[in-house]
Amino acid sequence: MTITHARTGIVIRDATEDDLPAILALHNENIAHSTALWDVELADLADRTAWFRDRRAAGMPVLVAEVDGEFAGYAHYGQFRPKVGYRYSVENSVYIAERFHRRGLATALLGELVERARTSGRVHAMIAAIESGNTASIALHERFGFVEVGRMPEVGRKFGRWLDLTLLQLTIPVDGD
Ligand SMILES: CC(C)(COP(=O)(O)OP(=O)(O)OC[C@H]1O[C@@H](n2cnc3c(N)ncnc32)[C@H](O)[C@@H]1OP(=O)(O)O)[C@@H](O)C(=O)NCCC(=O)NCCS
Repeated sequence: MTITHARTGIVIRDATEDDLPAILALHNENIAHSTALWDVELADLADRTAWFRDRRAAGMPVLVAEVDGEFAGYAHYGQFRPKVGYRYSVENSVYIAERFHRRGLATALLGELVERARTSGRVHAMIAAIESGNTASIALHERFGFVEVGRMPEVGRKFGRWLDLTLLQLTIPVDGD
């Protein structure tokens, strides 16, 4: 399904494999220059293709934001942890290319991602694991009703310093099986 925000020119739609080079470039940008991702080695297209196909096979969304037909960012969720007992819990992420920051794109993407989770009937807990200094992402998630449920000190290390992890959770009513 495609959602067009007529006033802003923002389009939110499901990703396709044609988006993977742009997704890869943004993913690697965040690996190289930010603490939003805690990887240190850059990914390649084969890695992102396998990731995308896994999401598809699991029925989990990967959404893209476009502005005037140009790729501007993406968001997705996948099962929080692999064991079957976690099947109603997902971890979500959202990434916007720097030159499109602060135009409401993450808000549009996360809004649709939460909507997909709510209507799926298969998500009870949506979890964002955010580096504690990332006040932009924490504020973004709090706007959607995510609440802080944990803070793990110094569980990460990148760029020669320790990183704290803040866990935020949105709980969605759903009947379990
Ligand atoms: C965090 C991020 C996704 C926000 O994307 P965005 O499209 O700029 O966000 P929006 O324009 O939708 O902003 C929504 C709200 O988030 C908060 N926010 C966004 N950027 C902010 C900033 N630089 N400083 C403080 N708050 C910020 C504000 O509350 C903002 O609302 P406002 O503009 O009305 O004040 C973007 O900065 C990004 O991609 N960062 C790098 C990757 C990352 O950290 N991803 C999250 C990993 S969990």
